[in-house]
Amino acid sequence: MSQPAPISLLEELTARFAAAFAGLGADPALGQVAVSQRPELGQFQCNGAMSASKALKRNPREIAEAVVVAARDEALFAELTLAGPGFINVRVTDAALAARANALAADPRLGIARAAVPQTVVIDYGGPNVAKPMHVGHLRSSIIGDSLVRLFRFLGHDVKGDIHLGDWGTQMGMLIYELSRLQPNLPYFDPALAGPYPAEPPVTMEDLQAMYPAVAARCKADEDERRAATQATVELQQGRPGYRALWQHFRDLSIAELKADFHRLGVDFDLWYGESDYEPDIPAMIAELRAAGVAIEDAGALIIPVEQPDDKKPMPPVMLLKSDGGANYATTDLATIRQRVRDLHADLILYVVDKRQSLHFEQVFRAARKSGLAGNAVMEHLPFGTMNGADGRPFKTREGGVMRLKDLIAMMTDEAHKRMLEANVAQDYPGAERAAIAHKVGMAALRYADLMNVRTADYVFDIERFTRFEGRTGSYLLYAAVRIQSILRKAAERQLAPGTILPPACDEERALVLALAQLPEALRAAADQRMPHHLCAFAFDLGQALSRFYNACHIMDEKDAARQASWLGLVTLVLRELELLLGLLGIEIPERM
Ligand code: ARG
Repeated sequence: MSQPAPISLLEELTARFAAAFAGLGADPALGQVAVSQRPELGQFQCNGAMSASKALKRNPREIAEAVVVAARDEALFAELTLAGPGFINVRVTDAALAARANALAADPRLGIARAAVPQTVVIDYGGPNVAKPMHVGHLRSSIIGDSLVRLFRFLGHDVKGDIHLGDWGTQMGMLIYELSRLQPNLPYFDPALAGPYPAEPPVTMEDLQAMYPAVAARCKADEDERRAATQATVELQQGRPGYRALWQHFRDLSIAELKADFHRLGVDFDLWYGESDYEPDIPAMIAELRAAGVAIEDAGALIIPVEQPDDKKPMPPVMLLKSDGGANYATTDLATIRQRVRDLHADLILYVVDKRQSLHFEQVFRAARKSGLAGNAVMEHLPFGTMNGADGRPFKTREGGVMRLKDLIAMMTDEAHKRMLEANVAQDYPGAERAAIAHKVGMAALRYADLMNVRTADYVFDIERFTRFEGRTGSYLLYAAVRIQSILRKAAERQLAPGTILPPACDEERALVLALAQLPEALRAAADQRMPHHLCAFAFDLGQALSRFYNACHIMDEKDAARQASWLGLVTLVLRELELLLGLLGIEIPERM
């Protein structure tokens, strides 16, 4: 038997008002209830009477009065009052609030329904390039994408997070060329040899990291160098055995390092496919596209025109094959869509990629739809802004312009250590535990600082602000969660257990229950808009409501046993919501701090 989908408090109120509007012959959609902008007037408000006035040819105030009469329900509404031309302010009874809190507490999913129709969702995020330094775009993509993976999975979808490694670009040719200069006698460069080659890589990851900037700079400055690197790329792509063997070494080294670094950040991809994995599919795809007449020759190149009559800006065609026969970034992206639809049966493909790639995705999506290779899958580019340094330029962790995930993680952890020392947090714990806490605090700070912004906005990396224990920070929320854990531990030591939640007896308690009841709306907004900042904002509001509650209600000193058990029940519920929210943000809560 499937459970009826739980409905949220806001949905319940809306349903009542919708019925009341419908009863008057108006559009039930006018019954939409919202959280009040003016809490002194009510907890919720419904403003539909103004819009109903025209259709019903009645004065809005009169309509609002009739709605209030029709919606009346003493068990649910403590107060329905009219304001202005026809606003309805709503207060819910304390008994209804308590019932709501107890229902949430009894539900393992905290009132969040699973998707009625689960979809296969492929999330393309991270996207670092093998053997090339990461930049902040890759970092942001990893953090945002990871949160969306967690959210869609919690909502019951079948989610596949794919790193889509850049492992087939010219950087590989550059590195091969560079190594051929540095160590020309390696067997990989002997054209007479076709293998087998040594199993051990001829270089380390550090070597690659030093080689890349050197060769990249020379290629930029010098035409001959560039030509040599391109030649190596072409030979690699044509399958020259020694080059393929080197490429495999470079790729393996990079993946091992990426896996370790991403793991420390708490990001673990389901799929580690790279651009190279689609290489074998490209000829068949090109043949299909040609046969369908979608791909056409143009001055020696093969293109898919994608412009549409109502385009406001120039929309260049997708360049499938350059005149030298080489495939492009877009070609690989099309082959990737084809594979995701055919083999992974994707219904929805989300691309968490830098906003500077918007045109690329617009072109690719159009080509995928036009050619039919996307099937019925929906594709969306989810662009994001830049994390800037104090200088207003994209953030870097070291001189010379590179950002290394390792350095960033170390920086965040060091800063967390400092803050913990200042705030006297965890100072008397064993060193290993303190280090583990600092790591969690640092990662929480980094993730929260990123995810709290509207996805498309730029923001400034400010490590001092990110790691504070006060204000809108990950550390603040960790602290809130850990504090509840510690209260519950103390209570357990005194044989006190959380109990049924009683009707709230003061404003702070009431406000906390009201905040708790809004979890479903926060998750829905985050999922519908693919915007994790809704989760951040909601978690912060919950944290604030919790600290006001603590100030007013002293749980451990309470004399009334039922009230005390109720408060323990209430903070347990807050903890569970915080655990869910922080979990969706990829933030891990230490056991104690
Ligand atoms: N490797 C690419 C870059 O560094 C990002 C990949 C994004 N995903 C995609 N399917 N194109 O720009």
